[in-house]
Amino acid sequence: MSVKITMVGTGYVGLVTGACFAEIGHQVICVDKDEKKINNLNQGIIPIYEPGLDELVLRNIRNGRLKFSTDVKTSSSERDAIFLCVGTPPHPETGAADLQYVYAAAEEVALGLDGFTVVVTKSTVPVGTNRQVFGILSKYGNLKNSLAVASNPEFLREGAAITDFMEPDRVVVGVENDRAAKLMREIYEPIVAASIPFVQTSIESAEVIKYAANGFLAVKLSYINEVSDLCEVVGANVSDVAKGIGLDKRIGSSFLRVGPGWGGSCFPKDSMALHKTAKDFGVTMRLIESAIIANDERKLSMADRVKKYCGGSLQGKRIAILGLTFKGQTDDMRESPSLVIIPQLQREGAIVSAFDPSQPEGIDDLLPGITISSTPEELCVNADALVIMTEWREFRSYDYANFAKSMNCKVAIDLRNLLDEKSMQMAGFDAYHRLGE
Ligand code: UDX
Repeated sequence: MSVKITMVGTGYVGLVTGACFAEIGHQVICVDKDEKKINNLNQGIIPIYEPGLDELVLRNIRNGRLKFSTDVKTSSSERDAIFLCVGTPPHPETGAADLQYVYAAAEEVALGLDGFTVVVTKSTVPVGTNRQVFGILSKYGNLKNSLAVASNPEFLREGAAITDFMEPDRVVVGVENDRAAKLMREIYEPIVAASIPFVQTSIESAEVIKYAANGFLAVKLSYINEVSDLCEVVGANVSDVAKGIGLDKRIGSSFLRVGPGWGGSCFPKDSMALHKTAKDFGVTMRLIESAIIANDERKLSMADRVKKYCGGSLQGKRIAILGLTFKGQTDDMRESPSLVIIPQLQREGAIVSAFDPSQPEGIDDLLPGITISSTPEELCVNADALVIMTEWREFRSYDYANFAKSMNCKVAIDLRNLLDEKSMQMAGFDAYHRLGE
């Protein structure tokens, strides 16, 4: 059954989800205040780097199931479901989720509602926010019996978002109105039909599921990163340890790849918000707090590691960084470990250059004083060390023997354990350092 859906917010979550809803047969309007962005989208110009998204958007514009608008009010009229997908950035000091955009969107949606509509919050919001949204919406009198809210958190990974939408581990919906629950099942039926679990629960439970999931994954990552540090001093191999524990179904093999620390638009924000929510309710959550602290300290320790491998001083050393984004296959710099590690290297006197395949925007502002190379070959000329910061798949196929020839010191420091010792020695590197080995 084709459902009439409006997505409020065409950022990473709203645009991917809206295009995927259209792909599975629904009539979708994606709304954003940013007129330039909407005009571009109407021409099929996609503002984010997400594999497969441009074809998906273009295909559904052509088949008439995906439209774009800047007007929330008119796009909220005669719709079956309206998804709030606006940002919930962390407060810089407290870490609390800033809900001004969610509440503002709810106010605008309320002005356009007519006919029974389910207003779904897909943005990651603290426990209790959906009830606040209901309160805002039902301020407008006649809505009380023609309105329901639902929490429908997303579990999309950047770089794999379309797959994560089309083949999710589960769909989670927090809803307490039967008609709304039926509609949510109809919306996801083309996906859930393929025996994907549809978890229907209370609104608060759905809100907690999102934070608890990301919080757990962040703890798991900080854990394997700390195990990696132990492996280094006891002569163990963290890759073997990760394999050995990951085969236990209770642990699972994913999210056990050691790295310079976790980043992105979600884990840092959501782990802080989870900790803040617990604190606000007088509940102690030590594990998530420790995972955040361990992660922050890890990024700085990576700079110390580079200094150690460069003979104990970075003064005047030319450091070449491969990869700037928070992870491979994305152009997203939000909370990327490079934003902490590179300034620390510069404070120690290093001259830093970098190459990133996605050529992320705004690097001059994000990382003042850094030189951006247009190719990895250019990056390595006269370098005193090559640091692999991000796990871009293409980094595996580079010609490191060619790079080594132009380097001043043939030292490689692999903060993602992406490459391997043997091939780097064959390529002519005098030293190749990994994590946890
Ligand atoms: C994450 C969650 O995975 C997703 O479910 C949620 O909806 C949004 O947040 P994302 O932030 O896109 O997705 O990135 P993800 O692939 O989860 O990686 C997060 C961070 O962990 C990155 O910095 C990545 O480099 C790091 N990571 C991930 C590791 O260091 N090791 C791993 O094994 C996996």
